[in-house]
Amino acid sequence: MRDPGFPHRHLLGIEGLTPLEITHLLDLSDRYVELNRGSDKVARVLDGRTIVNLFFENSTRTRTSFELAAKRLGANVINMQVESSSVAKGETLIDTAVTLNAMHPDALCVRHPDSGAVKLLSEKVNCAVVNAGDGSHEHPTQALLDALTIRRRLGRLNGLLVAICGDVLHSRVARSNFYLLLTMGARVRVIAPRTLIPSQLESLGVEVFTDMNEGLKDADIVMMLRVQNERMRGSFIPSVREYFRFFGLDRAKLAQAKPDALIMHPGPMNRGTEIDSDVADDVQRSAIREQVELGVAVRMAVLEVLSKNNAAYKAAVGQS
Ligand code: NCD
Repeated sequence: MRDPGFPHRHLLGIEGLTPLEITHLLDLSDRYVELNRGSDKVARVLDGRTIVNLFFENSTRTRTSFELAAKRLGANVINMQVESSSVAKGETLIDTAVTLNAMHPDALCVRHPDSGAVKLLSEKVNCAVVNAGDGSHEHPTQALLDALTIRRRLGRLNGLLVAICGDVLHSRVARSNFYLLLTMGARVRVIAPRTLIPSQLESLGVEVFTDMNEGLKDADIVMMLRVQNERMRGSFIPSVREYFRFFGLDRAKLAQAKPDALIMHPGPMNRGTEIDSDVADDVQRSAIREQVELGVAVRMAVLEVLSKNNAAYKAAVGQS
């Protein structure tokens, strides 16, 4: 079948993307992995373009990764520090977006604590918008980098059994991964305490478990999630010790998965809460560092296709 490319102006989520569109982004990302491993890491495809990182939430790896991705494509990058910007003076999300838009950026990479905020913003600007994580809704580039990591290690996504464990309720990473993995033909299980399982997961096609030893059985991939204390209003887990005992990944629980099952975590990790250092740092089994590495390549692919699509769109409608 003909490759449709990626015919969208924004990347707001994985929901609704087709297998071919996802594959197109992953194939392009693969090419950038090779570039990033070489000594001359610059591809000049975004020469003269401006990318703005607008982060309303803390971030280490995602913001740095977007910045590096844009710079390696030759773009100029502005990092908006929200605490020191007019947002701290009460400017609304939309005012901020419209102000930035007036300076003609080519893409905005936006993280916001409210689900839906990034989509709202995309409706008010005329450049590409990339969702770098909105509340507990979606984090599409994370799911793409997770998929790229799996595909490079195991050669495919189709037919794999992926166990996603931990604070699924608050996790945009989990949600984007559900959409992507199911679309690509993987089987997805969720393993979590009842209090951290969103309702109606089964209707998406996800199998739900509350026991790690059962849920991990024969898994090809074990994806651990951070316990997101900052999004919890009230008490969702009894204590860290108890959580680790039942839901923390250690050697004993991992033994239920396939002998060569891959361990993943989007970071930042709470060692000793959801994952034991012994398994997190196992160089044979853990792909956690590779996830960070591949994130830059995925963001380069996304920025490249969206910038091209937006340039074509503006040319077609006669905007500058
Ligand atoms: C994730 C996020 O911010 O959603 N981190 C990341 O982007 N690497 C997961 C998390 O914060 O737990």
